[in-house]
Amino acid sequence: MKCFLTRRLPQAAMEQLETTFELRVNPYDRVCTKEELLEGVRWCDILLCLLTDPIDAEIIRANPHLQGIVNYAVGYNNIDVAAATARKIPVTNTPGVLTETTADLAWALIFSVARRIVESDAFTRSGAFAGWAPQLFLGGDVWGKTLGIIGAGRIGTAVALRSAGFNMPLLYVDEHPNTPLEQQLGARKVSLTELLQQADFVSLHVPLLPQTTHLIGMAEFAAMKSTAYLINTSRGAVVDEAALVQALQTGRIAGAGLDVYEHEPLLHPALKALPNVVLTPHIASGSKDTRTRMGLICAENAAAIKAGKMPPQIVNPEIYR
Ligand code: DGY
Repeated sequence: MKCFLTRRLPQAAMEQLETTFELRVNPYDRVCTKEELLEGVRWCDILLCLLTDPIDAEIIRANPHLQGIVNYAVGYNNIDVAAATARKIPVTNTPGVLTETTADLAWALIFSVARRIVESDAFTRSGAFAGWAPQLFLGGDVWGKTLGIIGAGRIGTAVALRSAGFNMPLLYVDEHPNTPLEQQLGARKVSLTELLQQADFVSLHVPLLPQTTHLIGMAEFAAMKSTAYLINTSRGAVVDEAALVQALQTGRIAGAGLDVYEHEPLLHPALKALPNVVLTPHIASGSKDTRTRMGLICAENAAAIKAGKMPPQIVNPEIYR
């Protein structure tokens, strides 16, 4: 069976895939063009793609014999799952393995933006540090402040659990009650408005869906405390980036830590000039171990499809019913 990889994965995953498939790999260290994607999908039985590859109905149609779409990410908003399901093509993702690593980065952003780590680092390197001073790079406290989690699924829960050592009251918004969070940390399930009004850190952990697109916009920034920080490690379009820029420019909120962008990889032109935002290039799952585990899960999912079995991490299980 033939598998087309839209980008080279960590070595252990490549070796695993080579034991099972004839592989063709995008030879360039960049995202495939539409033409390259079409050519790859026409050649393969299984398409192994990234969150940067839009796998739309046209791509899926290009190969009437396509047997599987294996996404190297937990988020799969890049794939037209309905089009795949209509053809009974399994779509898989990589949940679980990246939960803790992503939660770590959310906390890295919380500390970086609140304690002004990036600005302080640049200042210190520049040679401008002339000695301790009472008002040098004063930031916001993290300990004891209220943490608001929007989307208390796997990653949101892992972020919330990490707050235990910092004595932070915890609020969350989710469709479902999160009993472990309520019992272990006294978390309260509240409305979005209440969370926005009370939280000092608002951390986003929802998938990108039509109903979560621009979940945080002008009205939501207006509801937040002017001392609050927004943290986004989910998907860029959950936030209206133009409204965020305005909120940061006008001091409507204190700052933001962003790993994802509405028009990724493009940034809103004003973002990079703002001192009260910390920007990382979608690296939340980017530890060496986690990226390898993600690749190995893809290899497992692809092997199961080849064997005619339901893959362990299936997004559209209904095709097997
Ligand atoms: C995902 O998996 O969806 C992350 O955004 C990248 O690892």
